[in-house]
Amino acid sequence: MTMRFSLPFLTLLLGLLIGAAGFAWLDTGRIAAPGEDPRLAIRLTPDERAHVRGEMLEFLNGVAVISDAALAGDRETIAETADALKRGDGGGQAIRQKVPEGFRLMSRDLRQGFAGISEMAATADMESIQRATAETLHRCAACHGSYRVIPQSRRPAGLATPPDG
Ligand code: HEC
Repeated sequence: MTMRFSLPFLTLLLGLLIGAAGFAWLDTGRIAAPGEDPRLAIRLTPDERAHVRGEMLEFLNGVAVISDAALAGDRETIAETADALKRGDGGGQAIRQKVPEGFRLMSRDLRQGFAGISEMAATADMESIQRATAETLHRCAACHGSYRVIPQSRRPAGLATPPDG
């Protein structure tokens, strides 16, 4: 059986395929080799890394506590926990200056997510708070899918962080 396609149709199909491939390439910047971690690498010193990890464990603990509290209808705990996470302790200032803009924005989005939950705590129904908590978890996932940390090798202070390691 032979299939007949008109030339305009084939041209359109080819155009779409090339367009899609081009878009995928633009979107990632480059194509990762098999087995290679395609996420953008951020170089952090051991201290900076320890700071990030400490905050991360507080985030994880925080969303667990907020989820439990939303199930229990415990508004006080929700407010207290979200409030503590809606802004950093200031210790991340140097890190914020060296990370890419996208990382900063995702970090800000996350803080805003906690700020939103904190505002909802007093009056919103628990289902809405649970939904906001789930939405906040997506913000964790967005950053983890985009960035990873690698150790910063010794280099003069102030040198720009290479975009990839
Ligand atoms: C702006 C980016 C960003 C956001 C948002 C983010 N993380 Fe992370 N997270 C990271 C990076 C980068 C690492 C890897 C740190 C490393 O390798 O030293 C990490 C690591 C972690 C770790 C592992 C910590 C360890 O001890 O190794 C946990 C757990 C974690 N994140 C939880 C969360 C949770 C929960 C949220 C959301 C409430 C969240 N993160 C949001 C960037 C982010």
